[in-house]
Amino acid sequence: MRTIKVLDKEFETFITKDKIQQAIAAVAEKMNNDLKDKDPIFLAILNGSFLFAADLMKKVTIESEITFIKVASYHGGISTTGIVKNLIGIDKPISGRTVVILEDIVDTGITLEKIVAELTPMNPKEILTATMLYKPEAYTKDIKIDYIGLVVPNAFLLGYGLDYNGKGRNLEDIYVLKNNH
Ligand code: PRP
Repeated sequence: MRTIKVLDKEFETFITKDKIQQAIAAVAEKMNNDLKDKDPIFLAILNGSFLFAADLMKKVTIESEITFIKVASYHGGISTTGIVKNLIGIDKPISGRTVVILEDIVDTGITLEKIVAELTPMNPKEILTATMLYKPEAYTKDIKIDYIGLVVPNAFLLGYGLDYNGKGRNLEDIYVLKNNH
C-alpha cells in the first residue's frame, strides 16, 4: 500500500495500473465485438477521460473515430455540486451515427444525463455509454451504462484522470482518500 500526499490530503493506493489496464482491455474486446461495422464516434468527456480514452483507443481495432468534448459538474472540491454546463466541442455531425460516450467516472449520473440530453436532439442513431469507473451507490439516474471498466464504492478517488482540485490526474494508479479526511 502506497500513501501519497496531494495538496492537504493523503491518499492510498486503491486500484493498480495493471488492474486498470486489464479492465480496459476487457471493455475494448467487448466493443470490438459489439460495434464492428457500426463505425462509432467515441466522444471522450474532458478532462477526466483523457487517459481512459487514450488507453482504450489503443486497443479498439474496429473502424471508428474519436473526438473530445467538455462539460463540468464538480467545482474544485471533493463533493458533487450538481451544477453542469453545456457541451463544448462537438466538431462533426453525429446524425445517424452510433455515438459512444467515454467517461472516467459515473458518480451521481448528473453529468451523463446532461450529455445524453444534449446529444439526443442531434439525432444520432444510438447513444451508448462507457465509463472506466462506476459508483452504483451514488448513481441516481436511469440511463443504462453499456460498458463499465470497474465498479467502485462511493469514496473519493484520485488518479487516472480523476483530480483533487486539479491535481493528480496523471497518476497511473487510482488512489482513495485516506481515513476520509
Ligand atoms: C467528473 C467525471 C464525470 C462527472 C461524474 O467530471 O469526469 O464527468 O464528474 O460525476 P456525476 O456522475 O456526479 O455527474 P468533472 O465535472 O469533475 O470534470 P473533470 O472531468 O474535468 O474533472
